[in-house]
Amino acid sequence: MLKTRDTSHSLNVDKIRSDFPILKRRVHGKRLVYLDNAATTQKPKQVIDALSDYYSNYNSNIHRSVHLLAEEATEAFEGTRSKVQQFINAGSQEEIIFTRNATEALNIAASCTTSSIKPGEKIVVTEMEHHSNFVPWQQIAKRRGARLEIVSVTDDGEIDESDLESKLADAKVLAFTQMSNVLGTINDAKKLTKLAHEQGAVVVLDGAQSSPHISVDMRVIDCDYFALSAHKMLGPTGVGCLYGKRELLENAPPFLLGGDMIKEVHRDETKWNDVPWKFEAGTSNIADVIAFAPALDYLTKIGMSNLQNHEQEICKTALEELSKVDDLEIYGPKDPSRRAAVFAFNLGKIHAHDIASILDAEGIAIRSGHHCAQVLMEKLGVPATSRASFYLYNDYDDLEALIDGLRKVIEVLN
Ligand code: ALA
Repeated sequence: MLKTRDTSHSLNVDKIRSDFPILKRRVHGKRLVYLDNAATTQKPKQVIDALSDYYSNYNSNIHRSVHLLAEEATEAFEGTRSKVQQFINAGSQEEIIFTRNATEALNIAASCTTSSIKPGEKIVVTEMEHHSNFVPWQQIAKRRGARLEIVSVTDDGEIDESDLESKLADAKVLAFTQMSNVLGTINDAKKLTKLAHEQGAVVVLDGAQSSPHISVDMRVIDCDYFALSAHKMLGPTGVGCLYGKRELLENAPPFLLGGDMIKEVHRDETKWNDVPWKFEAGTSNIADVIAFAPALDYLTKIGMSNLQNHEQEICKTALEELSKVDDLEIYGPKDPSRRAAVFAFNLGKIHAHDIASILDAEGIAIRSGHHCAQVLMEKLGVPATSRASFYLYNDYDDLEALIDGLRKVIEVLN
């Protein structure tokens, strides 16, 4: 073992693992070492049971019928909204919109701001953005004749703050990620939001990678929009959330038109529903929204600061140990306190997909590719990287398996 855990200061990883049925699975005859958490996390039995309970006992549409099943489903669905509000400390439940994923949430935020952007005005993003927080802004800039300004990332994987400050002058929008899905960098969302607000810009924060790993607080950060993704934080797939400041949501046009997002429809006009339902057209992903609640409960019970401490310990050791592997280059900050336990790397000239395939044969699941961040790949000068990303059920034994697996990759391919 690389290290044994001081259980008085850490998570009880064995107990946590026992809540995740999939972690008992063997892959190619080996223990599953799941290190693809930035792509999606595994689900505890509490989440799986909630899905089954909904379909077995109170499956019904919401916000429409008055029968008991519909009332139970509506209450559970709206109950998740309340839990999301508490989890991110938003000012009110009306500021939480359920979407299909973080990508849709970011597209809604972009749609809400589109009409305020005039020809020649600036939209600012960074080189470390996921495509979901880059492409919508690039396309709006094209449609509106606006300028897309892309803030540089330093060699150490941080946002270049002097470049940001100069690009922010008179900008209309700053869209950035709170945590990079490639570099692991944790950006100072509160500070950057303040800088943007001083210039009168609307701030759209991508929290898809941060909200599973660190405590986020809308009232402290003060961003205008924030997107998260349930499946990256122990919840089901098919659910994202957009937080938006109430006044902005009330003044923005709806995103999709149709059922449930209206108050009245007449031959010649339609009155929109109140927020947040104005942005939730059609039948929602009821089951998965309901089953997101136990995921939030699970994280709350563990405590986000305990979770972050656990990942910081792993991150520190991982940076030390991975640096001992010959020819391994890790991207992102070298200082563990500046980053999360997500490690994009390359190993000499070995192709990222070959690394992932050999590790898979050892039961180790990682991701390889461009991680939906091709602008960043161009900046790093690589077509792809491998990426290992840790979560609350990962421990030093998983790190050790990864390092042994990488030595095997070198042995097989060199
Ligand atoms: N955005 C997810 C990732 O980085 C899918 O892997």
